[in-house]
Amino acid sequence: MSVVKRFELRRQRNLHTAAPPRRRRRKVSDFRSLDVMSASVEVSTAVTLKTDVTTFSYPSVYETKSRFIGRLKYNEGMAKSHFQLAASVSFEGRHHASSDDLKVLVSPALKSWMQGRKNLHVVELGPSYTTVIPEALEQYLGSYTAVDFSGPLLDRQMGFLKRLPGLANCCTKIVSDTFDLVLPPSSIDLVVTSCHPPLVSAPVTDCIQVIKTVHEILKPGEFFAVFPWIFSEQAPSVNRLLLTKFALKRVAFRRGLDERLLLLLQKV
Ligand SMILES: C[S@@+](CC[C@H](N)C(=O)[O-])C[C@H]1O[C@@H](n2cnc3c(N)ncnc32)[C@H](O)[C@@H]1O
Repeated sequence: MSVVKRFELRRQRNLHTAAPPRRRRRKVSDFRSLDVMSASVEVSTAVTLKTDVTTFSYPSVYETKSRFIGRLKYNEGMAKSHFQLAASVSFEGRHHASSDDLKVLVSPALKSWMQGRKNLHVVELGPSYTTVIPEALEQYLGSYTAVDFSGPLLDRQMGFLKRLPGLANCCTKIVSDTFDLVLPPSSIDLVVTSCHPPLVSAPVTDCIQVIKTVHEILKPGEFFAVFPWIFSEQAPSVNRLLLTKFALKRVAFRRGLDERLLLLLQKV
């Protein structure tokens, strides 16, 4: 029997039997999470992380390989393209339209790291229309606040969240530039940010401003989760500030990508 015929017979059997076709199971090991014992910025500007399993060293390439493109400003052109983008994503397709990093690294790592916590007040900086983070943290949430300078993207996200019974009543938005964000000091348990330009591609002074703002709004001893953090590409002064204001407790990364870290930092 030809391969095509065998495939067709199998497809028809699947259509007519009660059992659904077998789904590919996601590997448990899509990401690695390691406890950090110490983190330091050496005089040479390399960052050294000692974890429970291994030691990582990240020599600085900041001077030669800087990815900084300046501060983004929300303008008419961006608003227009965000309206179109928001309209193109459906409730059912929202996960499909979210990044793999959010789905296989950031959200499962946070879910496991926050286990046992209750009534968390969580702020996400720059979620766009994605709902992956609040959905992952649903059982631990007291409140979830989305901050983004894009009204159309946040409206779309809030529309999706209102359709999820466990989240509808605890989610709010703040349409604001991260650089202008005002929240009461020491009021938040967890700040999450993934692929957020102010911490990925903004100039050093901007990055420093955001780290200070996050530190200020967090309650003492609470957490800041940031992805992707590439120590070797951040300015040494930024790494130094981050590791002074916070204790690095855990890192996670996708297999084979141990430069591109998700950091779990605790306010000191
Ligand atoms: C690349 S998307 C990230 C979406 C999602 N967090 C993820 O990981 O896929 C960046 C988001 O940050 C928002 N953003 C960029 N610069 C910002 C700023 N200065 N203040 C507030 N939001 C900003 C954009 O509107 C966009 O929604």
